[in-house]
Amino acid sequence: MIKKNVSLQTFNTFGVKVAAKLFAQAENEDQVRNVIQSDEFRKHDNLILGGGSNVLFTKDFDGIVLRNHIQGVEVIEETPSSVVVRVGGGVVWHEFVLYCIEHGWNGVENLSLIPGSVGASPMQNIGAYGVEVETVFHELEAIHLQTGEIHYFNGSDCNFGYRDSIFKNKLKGEYLISRVTFQLSKDNHFNISYGAIEQELEQMGVKSLSARAVSNAVIAIRQSKLPDPKEIGNSGSFFKNPIVDQAIYNKIKGQFPEVVAYSAGEGKMKLAAGWLIDQAGWKGVTRGNYGVHKKQALVLVNYGGAKGKEIYNLSEEILNSIHEKFGVSLEREVNIY
Ligand code: EPU
Repeated sequence: MIKKNVSLQTFNTFGVKVAAKLFAQAENEDQVRNVIQSDEFRKHDNLILGGGSNVLFTKDFDGIVLRNHIQGVEVIEETPSSVVVRVGGGVVWHEFVLYCIEHGWNGVENLSLIPGSVGASPMQNIGAYGVEVETVFHELEAIHLQTGEIHYFNGSDCNFGYRDSIFKNKLKGEYLISRVTFQLSKDNHFNISYGAIEQELEQMGVKSLSARAVSNAVIAIRQSKLPDPKEIGNSGSFFKNPIVDQAIYNKIKGQFPEVVAYSAGEGKMKLAAGWLIDQAGWKGVTRGNYGVHKKQALVLVNYGGAKGKEIYNLSEEILNSIHEKFGVSLEREVNIY
C-alpha cells in the first residue's frame, strides 16, 4: 500500500513536478491507521494531503505523503427545516456543494467551486462571498497521527478565524481530518450581501432566489477572475488579506485614498491584498512559464513546467515590495513544503 518515489504532479493544483519518497492513499479509517502505525510512517516526516489545492512544493518531499481519500455522504439527522450530514474528508468540496444543491440543502452555495477537499475545508476555514465554512460546521472527526485514536471537535474546539483554525496552529501536523459533519438548512435564506453576487444575479435575470441560482452566480464570478487549476496551475489566493491596526490603515489611506479595506472588528481593518499587489504593479507580471494572474493579483500561476522554488521566490519578491511600498507584511495563505 505504501509506494516509493511517487510523482505528486497530479496531486497539487499548482501542477508542480515533484516526487514523494513514500506515498500512500487511504480510502477509510482502517487504511489510515495501517499507514500511520507503519515503520515507514514513524521513521519519516509526514504530510497529509487532501485536494492539494493549498500547497506549493519547492522540492521533492523527503518523507511520506498520506492522501486522504475517504468518501461518503450520509444523513445523520433530518427535520423539516434542516439536515445534518457527515461527509468523508476525501470528498471533493465542489462535488459536495453540488450534492447539497441537488438535495435542497442550503448553506454552502456561496462556497461553490472552491478547489480542495472536505477534510481541508475546516483546516483553513475556507470562505468566499460573505460565507465561511464555520457557519455550517457542526463537528469533525480527526485521527490522531500518534495514537490512531479518533477525536471529535465541535465548532468552538476548532477555534476558527479568518482562513484559520486550531489545525493550522496549536494542533498543526497532529491530525488527519477523516470526516466532517455539517448542518444545512432547508429554509430559503440566502446570503447575497456580497455586492458582486447581487449584480450577477440581476444580470442572469434571476427572479426567485435558490441555492442553485446563487451557486451559478458565484461560479460565474469565480470563472471570470480566477484561473481554473485544470487549465492553469494555481492555488487560489496565494496571500491572505492582512489585518492591520486602524492607525496603520489611516496612514495608508492618507497616502492612497482608494485603498480597499473592510472593518475587521474593534480598531482593526482588513486590507484587500489583491489591491495592494495590483497597485504595486504586479498584476499580470509573467516570468517565462509562471507569474501573477492577469485578472487577480492575489493568485500566482504556473503556466506549465515552472518550479515551485521559482514561484516561491516570486512570492518573496512580492512580499518585500508590498512591505516597502505600504509598510504592510503580507502572509502566505498557501502552505510551503
Ligand atoms: N482588487 C484589485 N486588484 C486585484 C484584485 C483585487 O484591485 O488584482 C480589489 C478588488 O477590486 C476589490 C478588492 O480588491 O475591490 C477585493 O477583491 P475580491 O473581491 O476579488 O476579493 P479578494 O479579497 O481579492 C477574497 C478571498 C477569495 C474569495 C473572495 C470573494 C482571501 C485571501 N481571498 O479575495 O478567496 O474568493 O474574497 O469572497 O481572503 C481563496 O482563498 O483562495 C480565495 C480565492
